[in-house]
Amino acid sequence: MTFDPTDKLSDLAAGGPALFFPDPPAQVTFNFDQGIAAEETFPLDDFRRLMGDVLDRDGGRALEYISFGYEEETDQIVYLPSYIELMLGHTGLREEVARWIGKTQQVEGLGADNLILTSGSVQAIALAVNALVNPGDGVLVEKATFPYAMRFMQMRGADIRTVEIDEHGLVVESLVERLEEMRRDGVTPKLLYVIPTFQLPTCVVMPEDRRRRLLEVAEEYDFVILEDSIYADLRYGGDPVPSLLSMDTDGRVIQSHGFSKVLAPALRIGWITAPEPLIHALASVRQDLGVSQWTCRMLEQYLKEGLLDPHIERANAVYRRKRDLAVKAVREHCGGLVSFDVPDGGYYLWLRIADNVDWEKAQHEAAMAGVFCRPGEKFLGQEAGQGYLRLAYSHAPDHELERGIKALGEAIVANAR
Ligand SMILES: Cc1ncc(COP(=O)(O)O)c(C=O)c1O
Repeated sequence: MTFDPTDKLSDLAAGGPALFFPDPPAQVTFNFDQGIAAEETFPLDDFRRLMGDVLDRDGGRALEYISFGYEEETDQIVYLPSYIELMLGHTGLREEVARWIGKTQQVEGLGADNLILTSGSVQAIALAVNALVNPGDGVLVEKATFPYAMRFMQMRGADIRTVEIDEHGLVVESLVERLEEMRRDGVTPKLLYVIPTFQLPTCVVMPEDRRRRLLEVAEEYDFVILEDSIYADLRYGGDPVPSLLSMDTDGRVIQSHGFSKVLAPALRIGWITAPEPLIHALASVRQDLGVSQWTCRMLEQYLKEGLLDPHIERANAVYRRKRDLAVKAVREHCGGLVSFDVPDGGYYLWLRIADNVDWEKAQHEAAMAGVFCRPGEKFLGQEAGQGYLRLAYSHAPDHELERGIKALGEAIVANAR
């Protein structure tokens, strides 16, 4: 191929590395990098049965863009009633998910009209940013956060300000400081993107009083809160804390969520829950034609049969076991050179490596031994991220957790001064 497309690229595409594509210097033996669900939790039998049942029941209708309505007598398609599914996704699944959220988060009055289904919750975040943020508008994010969300905000030309986090999540005083800065700079704050439960990458949880204060600040400075709840149901310790969505009396919290972490990422079904006018705004910036009817019909049945909650309970038992194994291995093999808080849920340990460790060398040696974690720099930037490490224990088989963390520990201990 001789054609060089470099000078044909849009400014957006040419503007930098879109996302993190890891390039480990050696073969990956112990993959603690990606936050993926444990394969052993996938409900293969239920999915196999329900995918077949849906085809048996609905035939080709399960394979359309939308659920067409049919005249009973003539069997003619009635187009209009379900056209909205091109924008919002399958109505039956929206109803079921609304019911599930209403029940698990104690939110009253939610229905299908409060949901838009998306291709994973990552698309939900992109839609929220596109629907709410103009170039130059102010967006606030936690200091360490989900890099994809940052990328969508950058692509939109947002003025992004970062807010401190501590062991209880987002620091509201720091948020107010950033808002005051914006006010002085003449920047309109539009959106706060926050992961209040099992924050990424730290896995910390924001307590209820802090959440209440956050909602007051949002009202005072008049911005929308996008609550990312993707890990919130993966709790296997500690007491539950109400979601921001459930505490909101003002209609300014929208919540992204999805099935990737609690069920399986390949479903590619996420959503946003929001007041109806905001759902319409999100739909208006959608650039595809909805989500898979077949998958949605299968998931509708899965929820209707009440299979989701027991599944999450079983999955959480698996993650609790993996967390305990990972915690034990880090304590045993990292020689007191690593500090961390034990998370009550989620997929990750957020490790802080002691200052007397030559982290660059240790990291390289760990990588050469096949240990693959996500470096703190990917969340906090080059300088602030040094010496931090996100270790995903969710996906690795149990025996790899022990062996891989032992290899990581050896690299750390060998490079302590
Ligand atoms: C914080 C956070 N939000 C959203 C997502 C998106 O997941 P999905 O698009 O699979 O729902 C992820 C995936 O890793 C995540 O870590």
